[in-house]
Amino acid sequence: MALSPGDPSSYARPDVAFVTHTHLELTVDFNQKVLEGKAILDVERKLPSATELILDHRKLIISSTTNAIDGSNLQYTIGLNVEFGSKFVIQLPPAVGDNKCKIEIEYKTSPDSTALQWLTAEQTAGGVHPYLFSQCEAIHARSMFPCQDTPSVKSTYSAKISVSKELTVVMSALLDRQLEESDKKIYEFRQSIPIPSYLVAIAVGALVSKPVGPRSKVWAEKEFIDQSAYEFGETETMLQTAEQLCGPYVWGMYDILVLPPSFPFGGMENPCLTFVTPTVLAGDRSLATVIAHEISHSWTGNLVTNANFEHFWLNEGFTMFVERKINSRMSGEKMRHFEALHGLQGLREAIKTLGETNQLTNLVPNLNNVDPDDAFSLVPYEKGHTFLFYLEQLLGGPEVFEPFLKSYLDTYKYKSIKTDTWKNYLYKYFSDKVELLNSVDWNTWLYKPGMPPVIPDYDKSLTNACTELARRWIEWDESTVSPFVISDIENLFPGQKVAFLTELHKSPTILSLNKMQQMANTYQLDLVKNSEIRFVWLRLCIKNRWELKVSDALNFATEQGRMKFVRPIFRDLYEWQEMRQRAIDVYLSKKNKMMYVTAHMVAKDLHLSD
Ligand code: BES
Ligand code: ZN
Repeated sequence: MALSPGDPSSYARPDVAFVTHTHLELTVDFNQKVLEGKAILDVERKLPSATELILDHRKLIISSTTNAIDGSNLQYTIGLNVEFGSKFVIQLPPAVGDNKCKIEIEYKTSPDSTALQWLTAEQTAGGVHPYLFSQCEAIHARSMFPCQDTPSVKSTYSAKISVSKELTVVMSALLDRQLEESDKKIYEFRQSIPIPSYLVAIAVGALVSKPVGPRSKVWAEKEFIDQSAYEFGETETMLQTAEQLCGPYVWGMYDILVLPPSFPFGGMENPCLTFVTPTVLAGDRSLATVIAHEISHSWTGNLVTNANFEHFWLNEGFTMFVERKINSRMSGEKMRHFEALHGLQGLREAIKTLGETNQLTNLVPNLNNVDPDDAFSLVPYEKGHTFLFYLEQLLGGPEVFEPFLKSYLDTYKYKSIKTDTWKNYLYKYFSDKVELLNSVDWNTWLYKPGMPPVIPDYDKSLTNACTELARRWIEWDESTVSPFVISDIENLFPGQKVAFLTELHKSPTILSLNKMQQMANTYQLDLVKNSEIRFVWLRLCIKNRWELKVSDALNFATEQGRMKFVRPIFRDLYEWQEMRQRAIDVYLSKKNKMMYVTAHMVAKDLHLSD
């Protein structure tokens, strides 16, 4: 397979010719479930002798490729479709003077584009209008528009989107203007900062917005708008905190779109417009840390970008690091340690699931012939965070490490880099601390599987209350009267409740049904709305084989599509022999309503595909 030398997940050859700007002119057709129109690509030859432009393509229907300057046809070929797409080669027009040309591609998407989810009116909160949203990361942009779908290429984009006039369009860009034409509305957008293809995003639906700060609005269906505006009321504070840490926010607006429940992630850092799952609408802002995370990506990821998904930790590990710094500025340094410890717990579970010697648990894995969707796990997030936390302590603490972070971001903004570039910069910046740096076991940290070689000494003061309560439940002798009361957990903040339940979940001890019932009653756990608490609680019920709770767990796993929640529940039920078929049946009956990635990944979890 002749994939790009710089990116195992893309056919593109930006070292031959590369796209500098994409203009999309698309009609949103809800009847056929397609985007139809054209993409006009500004192309620059990297090699003066270049004769072709190589793009990525997945399930697109191409009707013509022409030279946009004179309308002449250009020859093209589309290669064999492998698991994640095909090679799309267009002959370049002859070079005239400069090394630039413009190529127009008439095309439409396929109704089963892996980037797009088309919802019928009945699947929305309002129930009247249909809804469309995209999710391009990691490599699904190629199923939305012809592109060099590698984050090593950054280009600007503009778009002209036509929809029926009851609908609103939003994109990961700034709105230029909006026109009405009989029964149609036309939206024009512009992203004038060069971005990788995975950050192009669109959503269409019956959307309304409400301001939450001087540069921020929240978008949602009107049924959720007030709750959303309250939940994300701290957005501007988070943005300002992030700016202190990372430098000026360059994207102009920072808006948030609250998606329908089937959105497969917690959040997605689409520039100018974060996409977020409605499962973070807890009512008490306790899950708004997702916003701190996506805001952080405005620097770590969107300005300094991983050059391919083997270096994904440069996006996500750094983002966890900045996210937790923002949270600690708002809630105290102890909170940072509490979350880091909880993250480490998650890392242990992820490594256990993947297998301790699985090279996908390397901080920098090898993705040759591996779909990034299959490689996705907490490893780049939490091993990456642990590594940065360790380096910060080693090099002298936040006073020296935060200025380094800012300088690194400033040096590599608008670029795509690999791990070595970061490491070399670290050595250059701390040239007076080379000995300390040489004491780091680089090879193990970066290229060996399993848990990190060093675990920082985290402050446990906020964690102790959780582990202590868990210990009391495990040790309680059921022949004695229950010593537990609601106030055990009333003073815990929501993250501590999650940590308490996680502690019980990871413990080798099986709790009797009697203990589980006592716990459910004493703490009213079945009434909890907070999705993170509900998630571990249901997993704990499954672990302790509480059969009656299986239908709650299956409902939870199908009424929303966030993979972080959906996949572990299906995996747990698969492991429970007596429940396996039931889980499979529920999956089969619901999979058509799931987004492509979610359905595909759960099928793998249930061993229904290879
Ligand atoms: N960029 C990711 C989401 C993503 C990663 C989509 C890889 C597709 C492929 C986003 O920033 C993210 O990490 N979301 C987390 C948020 C959490 C860590 C606060 C999520 O979805 O859970
Ligand atoms: Zn992220």
